[in-house]
Amino acid sequence: MEVKTSLLDNMIGVGDMVLLEPLSEDSFLENLKKRFDHSEIYTYIGSVVISMNPYRSLPIYTPDKVEEYRNRNFYELSPHIYALADEAYRSLRDQDKDQCILITGESGAGKTEASKLVMSYVAAVCGKGQEVNKVKEQLLQSNPVLEAFGNAKTVRNDNSSRFGKYMDIEFDFKGDPLGGVISNYLLEKSRVVKQPRGERNFHVFYQLLSGASDDTLKKLRLHRDVSKYNYLSLDSAVVSGLDDAANFRTVRNAMQIVGFMEDEVQSVLQLVAAVLKLGNIEFKPESRCNGTDESRIKDKNDLKEMCELLGIEQSVLERAFSYRTVEAKLEKVSTTLNVAQAYYARDALAKNLYSRLFTWLVTRINESIKAQTKTRHKVMGVLDIYGFEIFEDNSFEQFIINYCNEKLQQIFIELTLREEQEEYVREGIEWTNIEYFNNAVICDLIENNKNGILAMLDEECLRPGTVTDETFLDKLNTVCAEHQHFESRLSKNSKFLTDHSLPHNCFRIQHYAGKVLYRVEGFMDKNNDLLYRDLSQAMYKANHSLIKQLFPEGNPAKVNLKRPPTAGFQFRASVSTLMKNLQTKNPNYIRCIKPNDKKAPHIFTESLIRHQVRYLGLMENVRVRRAGYAFRQTYEPCLERYKMLCKRTWPHWRGRAREGVEVLMADLQVPAEEFSYGRSKIFIRNPRTLFFLEERRRQCLQDLATLIQKIYRGWKCRSHFLLLKKSQIVVAAWYRRYAQQKKYQRIKSATTVVQSYARGWQARKLLRELKYQKRCEEAATTIAAYWHGTQARMELRRLKQEARSKHAVTVIWAYWQGTKVRREYRKFFRAHAGKKIYDFTIQRIMQKYFLGLRNNLPSMSPIDKNWPARTYLFLDGAHAELRRIFHLWRCKKYRSQFTEERKAVYEEKLEASEIFKDKKALYPSSVSQPFKGDYLEISKNPKYQKLNNAVDEKVLLADVVNKINRANGKGTARIFLPTKKSVVLADQKTGQVKASVPLPDLTSVSVSTQSDGFFALKLKEGSASAVKGDFLLSSEHLIEIITKLHRIGATATDREQLSIDISDEFLVQFKQDKVCVKFVQGAPKNGNSVSCKRKNNRLLEVSVPATA
Ligand SMILES: Nc1ncnc2c1ncn2[C@@H]1O[C@H](COP(=O)(O)OP(=O)(O)OP(=O)(O)O)[C@@H](O)[C@H]1O
Ligand SMILES: [Mg+2]
Repeated sequence: MEVKTSLLDNMIGVGDMVLLEPLSEDSFLENLKKRFDHSEIYTYIGSVVISMNPYRSLPIYTPDKVEEYRNRNFYELSPHIYALADEAYRSLRDQDKDQCILITGESGAGKTEASKLVMSYVAAVCGKGQEVNKVKEQLLQSNPVLEAFGNAKTVRNDNSSRFGKYMDIEFDFKGDPLGGVISNYLLEKSRVVKQPRGERNFHVFYQLLSGASDDTLKKLRLHRDVSKYNYLSLDSAVVSGLDDAANFRTVRNAMQIVGFMEDEVQSVLQLVAAVLKLGNIEFKPESRCNGTDESRIKDKNDLKEMCELLGIEQSVLERAFSYRTVEAKLEKVSTTLNVAQAYYARDALAKNLYSRLFTWLVTRINESIKAQTKTRHKVMGVLDIYGFEIFEDNSFEQFIINYCNEKLQQIFIELTLREEQEEYVREGIEWTNIEYFNNAVICDLIENNKNGILAMLDEECLRPGTVTDETFLDKLNTVCAEHQHFESRLSKNSKFLTDHSLPHNCFRIQHYAGKVLYRVEGFMDKNNDLLYRDLSQAMYKANHSLIKQLFPEGNPAKVNLKRPPTAGFQFRASVSTLMKNLQTKNPNYIRCIKPNDKKAPHIFTESLIRHQVRYLGLMENVRVRRAGYAFRQTYEPCLERYKMLCKRTWPHWRGRAREGVEVLMADLQVPAEEFSYGRSKIFIRNPRTLFFLEERRRQCLQDLATLIQKIYRGWKCRSHFLLLKKSQIVVAAWYRRYAQQKKYQRIKSATTVVQSYARGWQARKLLRELKYQKRCEEAATTIAAYWHGTQARMELRRLKQEARSKHAVTVIWAYWQGTKVRREYRKFFRAHAGKKIYDFTIQRIMQKYFLGLRNNLPSMSPIDKNWPARTYLFLDGAHAELRRIFHLWRCKKYRSQFTEERKAVYEEKLEASEIFKDKKALYPSSVSQPFKGDYLEISKNPKYQKLNNAVDEKVLLADVVNKINRANGKGTARIFLPTKKSVVLADQKTGQVKASVPLPDLTSVSVSTQSDGFFALKLKEGSASAVKGDFLLSSEHLIEIITKLHRIGATATDREQLSIDISDEFLVQFKQDKVCVKFVQGAPKNGNSVSCKRKNNRLLEVSVPATA
């Protein structure tokens, strides 16, 4: 649970000056001192933060502190700059209100530190991410760069900002930073050429000389020795606690992070070096013939080096230091410069060079840090501007600065009152008019366009004729004498009031924060801010892009005879823009106070602080804030804080918070005029009332603490007592139990002893009785046993005797019966017993035969010829029959495995067997040869493609046969192709069809009985095919060819079956002749080959080798 705290808790003094009672300057300072002594450097005036410079590092800016203040209400924790930063950031992020943080205070009061703290807090609490972190880093790193070029050691502050700075940080809708814009105001450029005693020039000069490498210094033509440069003060070149060399590295690094290119950094350093060189240029007078003095450069070495650095032609710059050209309309007049004028020109150039460089730096940083997106941004502006300055000798700068503060005070009053008024309207509280001093009249005195001091100054600067600071004062005396806030010796004199504290060359303005005396000397000069045109033109001619950029008015093509706007005019314009900008934003104020002049911790110089409290108008602040109601608080925290003061609201109020507060106030009888009920807040008019409530609360808290203590102590004692009581009961119970257990055990053991004796005695008595009884029983039993034994043995003898008699009778009876039966059945035995024995024997033999056969059956192969041997002759027939049946059965089994193709093959083989078996000697050798059919692979062989196409039908067989020539009996190779319809003979080589015989024309086929392959195809007489006669052919696959032809004939329905003649002599019709073909057994000389020879015209003899 989050602990709700309040600013009012553990307060040292009062955390909010609005609650100061009584309110006076003394009590104000006393409160500040009390807090300062306790290291409480922040105090509020309402929502304004007063910050005292501690001049030491306090442990209040740690990341833990950031977390502590993050997302907490402003008045919830003790005053801190983080509370203000958090309030501003949350209001920007959550309520979409643009914010500005206005930090004021005198030099060394801690404004720049405060602005950095605000920026670092916002950076710590806003979003994270690579891009966001880069933006944050660039925004934060712009500070070291600007501080190096714009800050200097002064007597009041070792790191005094010598320019005003306003930085707009831009955020997106999520509150992540997008970028920023920096505006700078009035750099104290006079410091470049001259510094008061004990002060230094801008940091960058010293940083460059001590931090740059030898190489860099050589390139910039610089020496490390500070004493070599006129523009650098020597007495305070080294500041304790300031490490210029390390800072130079920081600045270089920061420039890199911000996005400066290396050549840009070099250009900037060149310009810085050029300013130093410029300071070393010295002049000497030289008399001219017309009697006037003319200046001459003493030693041209520095000028030369500077010109080399900036790329300027030496003679051009030399001339610009010697002459001044005044252009008026069409005229150009050149006058020589005397030594004083030359020095003036040199210093003016150095100041301008440096201040323009500074403005360029700001512009360049802006370019880098500007937000990239074009969406609407939320803006938080941080203004770190010089505070009110009252010195002994106040000049133009103080006048300008104080004018700016006057404007800021005005906007403060306006916005504070406006805010107050808006809150009253929002809360429905009646608005009571607030009396306060409005400084608009002072602003008007300074900035009025017609007769304001700045307008007068401009008028005087532009007026032709002799114009001096004195003529300007005269003008003021005439125009502003009547003004109630303007005083001068003359205006007082006119009122017959002599004021010796007012010198003649001064005027005094009564600012809201006090009277300031201004010396008019230098006003005109500083306002004019004159740089001779010759010098700006010389600069423009430089061969250095940055210098060229800085002096655009030196461009001869753009000669502008109009005077440039005066410094006062420019400042007034930029202040006016700033004010307009601030008015659109929600203001947050940080008022910085410097506690002492020694830059030392723990020293509280009252007079100095009183002075600052006055000119910062802090009392005014408090009064404005307290004019209506001093304190306001929303109902919920108010009820939470004071509810213990009323019985009805304590400890819980169930209704609405406002009603609870009303009940509370009524119960406490707070006078009605002391407070008002707003819509969401209660407004308390007087701090007294708040302190009354706080005091009552404190007392009540004490009472409550006592009550809580009382109840707690009572509860603690009671609990202790109850615990003791409970413990005592437990202890007593345990003890009683223990004692009873002991007693019981004693009684129990005694009882056991007595019992054991009694039982022993009883047992022994019983044992004796039992033993006696047992002996009696044993005696009786023994007697009975002997008696029964005697009886039993007698009975046994009798029974044995009886059984022996019975058995003898049975045996005798059996023998007698046997004799009787044998005698009776002897005559039937031979007729039946022989047949039965025979049947039984036969049955036994059969059984043995079948079982033997079953166990010795041959394999399932149809060609297996094995069969068990016959065992009995009388079973011969059955044995053969069983062999046949078994063979048929296994053939059937074998056949049933056949596919259709195999079946067809076997059918062909079967048919071949029917045709040729035992008729032709060739047949047995063909049995083992498979019928392949297409021996030529005619459909696949590309050689026979044509032939294959010529035959329409399916080719049943393709083989090469020999066609026997009847003239000489020699054979010619022919392809033999029988189909279902015809028989084709074709040339073996060409595949050309030689003859095609339709099957119906084929009547018979003749073959020999021998083992030759000759066959004759006989054709139907008179058919077209028969013209050339029959064919006598021979083939190695004769059996297959004839079987196939026969099968075709068997399946054909449209013709007769092909007849097959098997004889060793047959006739063949060759054209007209019939020739007899005769087969003879060949002589051995012919070897194994079949030969065919023509014997005569009518006989062809085929000699076949004899078969074994
Ligand atoms: N909150 C702080 N904690 C510790 N030291 C501080 C704090 N604020 C300021 N200082 C010290 O005071 C010195 C001056 O502060 P800073 O430069 O912020 O003053 P300034 O108001 O900006 O002065 P100027 O108007 O001259 O620029 C710092 O260098 C630092 O040493
Ligand atoms: Mg500063």
